[in-house]
Amino acid sequence: MSSDKIAVYPGSFDPITMGHVDIVERGLRVFDRIVIAVAVNTSKTGLFTLEERKALIEKTFESYPNVEVALFEGLLVDFLRMRNIKSILRGLRAISDFDYEFQIAGMNNSLCPDVDTVFLMTSQKYYYISSSVIKEVARFGGNVSELVPAPVYEALSTRFAKV
Ligand code: COA
Repeated sequence: MSSDKIAVYPGSFDPITMGHVDIVERGLRVFDRIVIAVAVNTSKTGLFTLEERKALIEKTFESYPNVEVALFEGLLVDFLRMRNIKSILRGLRAISDFDYEFQIAGMNNSLCPDVDTVFLMTSQKYYYISSSVIKEVARFGGNVSELVPAPVYEALSTRFAKV
């Protein structure tokens, strides 16, 4: 059996931002491998399809052999069970994230007691961004090039190109 320390980093990633990249990079100081898991079922309507989000994340981390990207459907803990992974990685941006994260981590631990959530602080540089904010700024022509990985910037520019 592999003794690698592995974590799942879940989210909707519509699209992945530098804030998420920052958490993955910090996470790789703690874990040997990270599986970025794109949730199939969320109440959010997406700008990018699931396959597009997955492809953008793969492109972003193409030089990282220890980062894998997967789609998951249903409960996150079932995905962890299926993969025999015991750690969830989550980022905290501000105190306002705490209540929600506390609730989800508690629920996941109650559903699967041997699963724990590890929280890392997002860099101050990115604490104010979210995927929605990025999409809104890009839609109206604002410059988000420093806030998203290059493949995402390209995809947003194409999506919101003036015709
Ligand atoms: N940097 C920048 N932005 C960040 C960030 C970071 N470090 N961390 C989070 N965000 C942003 C996300 O982009 C997202 O933006 P958006 O709302 O504009 O799309 C927002 O903060 C919320 O992120 P997050 O809390 O990760 O929500 P999510 O929708 O991306 O993911 C799931 C939530 C998928 C992890 C959660 O719903 C889940 O596990 N679902 C599976 C079903 C399940 O098991 N439910 C039981 C758990 S109670």
